[in-house]
Amino acid sequence: MLGPNTELNRLVLDKNGTRYHQIARAIRQAVLDGRIGAESRLPSASALAAELAVSRPCVQRAYRLLCAEGFAVARPRSGTRVTQVMPPGDISAKPRSGATSRYAARLQSLPLITPIGAPASARPTFDLLYGEPLVHAETFHSWRRNLSSAALRAGTAYPPTGGYLPLRRAIANYLSRRRGLSCDASDILVVGGTQQALTLVERVLLNSGDRVVVEDPRYPLATHSLLAHGAKVTSCRIDQEGLVVSELPRARIRLTFVTPSHQFPSGVVMTLGRRLQLLQWATRTGSWILEDDYDTEFHSGDKPLPTLRTLDLAGRVIYVGSFSKTLFPSLRLGYIVCPKAIRDDLFRAKLLDDLGSATTEQAALGAFINSGRYERHLRKSLKEIASRRRAIVKGLQGLEGRHIEIGPYQAGMHFVIWFLGLGFDRLDAFIKRAKSLGLGLHPIHPYYRFPPSRPGLLIGYAGLTVGQLRTAVQLFGRCLESQAR
Ligand SMILES: Cc1ncc(COP(=O)(O)O)c(C=O)c1O
Repeated sequence: MLGPNTELNRLVLDKNGTRYHQIARAIRQAVLDGRIGAESRLPSASALAAELAVSRPCVQRAYRLLCAEGFAVARPRSGTRVTQVMPPGDISAKPRSGATSRYAARLQSLPLITPIGAPASARPTFDLLYGEPLVHAETFHSWRRNLSSAALRAGTAYPPTGGYLPLRRAIANYLSRRRGLSCDASDILVVGGTQQALTLVERVLLNSGDRVVVEDPRYPLATHSLLAHGAKVTSCRIDQEGLVVSELPRARIRLTFVTPSHQFPSGVVMTLGRRLQLLQWATRTGSWILEDDYDTEFHSGDKPLPTLRTLDLAGRVIYVGSFSKTLFPSLRLGYIVCPKAIRDDLFRAKLLDDLGSATTEQAALGAFINSGRYERHLRKSLKEIASRRRAIVKGLQGLEGRHIEIGPYQAGMHFVIWFLGLGFDRLDAFIKRAKSLGLGLHPIHPYYRFPPSRPGLLIGYAGLTVGQLRTAVQLFGRCLESQAR
């Protein structure tokens, strides 16, 4: 039996990890919050073992751990005693609210968005969700083999800050061949996807309160990052030619975030005229432009228009590419083609942020591109995406006119459809009914700063096969019929 008043009578084990760790943690906690004072004698191992219904060696191990940490000391013939480790004063008071930074306060004021959405098991069978990549099992296996051989080449040192050189060379070469973008490996900074690219650009270019323009509708993860950083975010409308440059604010703007090749999420491709107008505006007002070129590889038909970076003579465009769409988002690799004026600052910001992206993945990706397998994979994906796109667009066109209107769909892996006869008041019920049939639909209006006049849906189709997409269209048709009745 333990002594009558001992705090050790009230030890509560938290059931995390091994028993001896639980016992040591409970005693340590009691010492730290003052329930067991310095010089208190801990009960014999056999007494505490009986009390807690554990073995004696288990308690002995916990005591040895506490002695090794300096919380207790074992003396021959006088047992184990708590040491005088605690200075006077309380260390158990919880942090006061308001103790976090302004950055954290801004984060708390933003709705939580994750790019993952609901777990796959909780999603409808035919989910027209944007963001699902197209992944061929074959590519994935080849990637796996690539990774293990890359691990041998990558070595164990910290990565070079700008990125693994063979990968940077491969990216520069790819961009000049495929996108007509003239740059060399020294301009490329490998980053953890578009999201990290934006974070680094914010650190290098924006002070809290600086004004930034985003498109309306917009990419929420970029907008949130800018708001969390403390930027004042203004939206500018999109029409059928892209950003309405004539409506850009007159106030001084530090940065403009755009998706000209395939506006996210409307699907509009910015015309050449608008691109030139935007560059002229940026030169006149001194704004930097972040060009997010996230999915141009999946353009159908004509070659995509030249990038803003290609047209930029002033060095104001920060071109950002990502492998999230062309390969898969778990890779977390992308790149910035850095303008000369801020190149070194971006490299330093990257160094302090994470000391460089993981070398093994970079080496695997470099080998994948250099061997030609990346472009083979792209050609195959483009073909598959095009047939999925044809299947869903053709199906929806059969419903067009009466019930819906289809937005631009020639690029990327998503498009928007607009309801003609359904009001916002019936949208939720429509989506719920679709879900009950196994069809996942996602409204477009949350992507708008200024809501559109009628409801619409963001249709992502890369994650479903042609057959599944045909079924999805049939289910959608049934929902339209029943709401029209
Ligand atoms: C507009 C836009 N930009 C960029 C990306 C890619 O982001 P990341 O490279 O951080 O995965 C996405 C992915 O969904 C996107 O929708």
